[in-house]
Amino acid sequence: MGDKRVARGRRPELVDDAPGGAASAPPSSFVEVRDLRIHFPTDDGIVKSVDGLSFALERGRTLGIVGESGSGKSVTSLGILGLHNRRNARVSGEIWVGGTDIVGADPETVRKLRGRTMSMIFQDPLSSMHPFYTVGKQIVEAYRVHNDVSKQVARKHAIDMLGRVGIPNPAKRVDDYPHQFSGGMRQRAMIAMALSCDPELLIADEPTTALDVTVQAQILDLLRDLQQEFNSAIIMITHDLGVVAELSDDILVMYGGRAVEYASVDDAFHRPLHPYTWGLLGSMPRLDRERTARLNPIKGSPPSLINVPQGCAFNPRCAFRDLNDGRSETERPELVELEPGHQAACHLPLDKRRELWESEIRPKL
Ligand SMILES: Nc1ncnc2c1ncn2[C@@H]1O[C@H](COP(=O)(O)OP(=O)(O)O)[C@@H](O)[C@H]1O
Ligand SMILES: [Mg+2]
Repeated sequence: MGDKRVARGRRPELVDDAPGGAASAPPSSFVEVRDLRIHFPTDDGIVKSVDGLSFALERGRTLGIVGESGSGKSVTSLGILGLHNRRNARVSGEIWVGGTDIVGADPETVRKLRGRTMSMIFQDPLSSMHPFYTVGKQIVEAYRVHNDVSKQVARKHAIDMLGRVGIPNPAKRVDDYPHQFSGGMRQRAMIAMALSCDPELLIADEPTTALDVTVQAQILDLLRDLQQEFNSAIIMITHDLGVVAELSDDILVMYGGRAVEYASVDDAFHRPLHPYTWGLLGSMPRLDRERTARLNPIKGSPPSLINVPQGCAFNPRCAFRDLNDGRSETERPELVELEPGHQAACHLPLDKRRELWESEIRPKL
């Protein structure tokens, strides 16, 4: 039979393309994404924004999805919310959230899950908040869609939520319009809105990218506290490894619409097994260093998602591509489990990678 790799621990089984769409086993985790593909037909060709992604997440835990701009992170998050299903996208695979497969479910079921079971915070609150309605009214409306309560009760709840996310004087600010809030306060208000229905899954797509470092740290603290209180599962999406370092339990590194490394935070930071992850670590600002410490961005740019190169998508930028006998030019490396709970997709011999990490990469970080 096929060459099935069984991932241990919390991570889902990686399944080969199942011919004939054989029925798959029910999920064992709260969130389980299996072989997700989201492709967009365009005039220039098919954009393979997400091309075979699998991961799993339990309530009360956080998965960080990291990768450069254009790696498919936002398309993945909108896919989980079911927002591509009715659009021009071709979606295949499975997205299980609390026992429902979002890909296969009817639009009404998905609409009900959105807001109640899962909700999202975006980088730019102005794009998800309506400029003409007060912040309070928007939270009230969002709450009443899923809860059969009076406007008074919903308003009390809105004030309570604004207070919980650290907005001073919430009973007064509830009647402000979004533009009357500062960037950081607006981000808090959006978090209040996203959490008003007590979602079991919260997806945060670059939630702090537009904020300065101090406010960023406050928002991340807030998310951590709220997660404990609500026991929500969080998917934290960011291009910045630093943001996920403290908050996440697991990290999924995306490149060109696929996962290149999937590991616990500890493994991803201390024993990473993919040259792209090494590059991301090298390009992270270091708070414990002099201001003069230079960042080393990864040279080159991410692949086109229309004409994805044969072989390893990272190969053209990989500093170690000469070490894998030309395989990376022709053969796409699959994500394989190399250590319990630690997966990576790379043709370099594992011993060589471990040696490079210890002797060349880590000492320079
Ligand atoms: N509706 C769409 N039609 C065509 N291409 C799209 C669409 N949405 C996203 N893409 C493309 O998919 C790729 C991944 O985008 P995205 O998920 O937004 O990346 P990021 O990792 O920066 O969040 C990009 O190349 C983007 O241009
Ligand atoms: Mg994005």
